[in-house]
Amino acid sequence: MPLGHIMQLDLERIALEYVVPCLHDIGFCYLDNFLGEAVGDRVLERVKRMHRDGELADGELAGPSRGVAKRHLRGDQIKWIGGTEEGCEAISFLLTLIDRLVMCCGSRLGKYYVKERSKAMVACYPGNGTGYVRHVDNPNGDGRCITCIYYLNKNWDSKLHGGILRIFPEGKSYVADVEPIFDRLLFFWSDRRNPHEVQPSYATRYAMTVWYFDAEERAEAKKKFRNLTDARKREAALNED
Ligand code: OGA
Ligand code: MN
Repeated sequence: MPLGHIMQLDLERIALEYVVPCLHDIGFCYLDNFLGEAVGDRVLERVKRMHRDGELADGELAGPSRGVAKRHLRGDQIKWIGGTEEGCEAISFLLTLIDRLVMCCGSRLGKYYVKERSKAMVACYPGNGTGYVRHVDNPNGDGRCITCIYYLNKNWDSKLHGGILRIFPEGKSYVADVEPIFDRLLFFWSDRRNPHEVQPSYATRYAMTVWYFDAEERAEAKKKFRNLTDARKREAALNED
């Protein structure tokens, strides 16, 4: 689905008039009816199929407990998607649109220069009362600067189904509650400015997340990681003596 000229201009306008100022002012922003019902439905159908076909696996925590299942801390089931997988045309279209929107923000993202992103993480909270405890996506400079979440839940009633994303903006006395409703696209800074939690979900809750990288922080993080593994190799070699 090639994007028309009009749509590119729309994206530019949304980026410059809304996303950029909003991120600088309050650190997050969201757009509703991003794809429209028909295309949003295609994304939702594909995500539901992944779930039904058992392709989603328990989400893991980063850091020291990596690899350990801690369902009471993080209850989602996930799959990483490149976008070229079979039947993922609608997801790929969505990713292209989000990429273009972020590219339209260009050099206006403060110190950040974005030229790549992660794969897309499709996530399902199965509705058994699990959520994701308060956390920061990128507390230690791993390169991620913007978290972008696309929600897929029709007829979501937060009073009944929970599942609110609550952001606790650093140094502010308020919280921001974002309902995970169908065709809503949310952006927020991934660093310590935005601790957030997913409140317990009592209905199946679908979302897709991508993280955009700041080029410099990402390169630095990769370098640190390489050095760390080298150090570990040396340590291992010393231990063998
Ligand atoms: C995450 C996360 C929020 C949401 O996966 O890191 O915070 O609303 N998800 O799904
Ligand atoms: Mn998070």
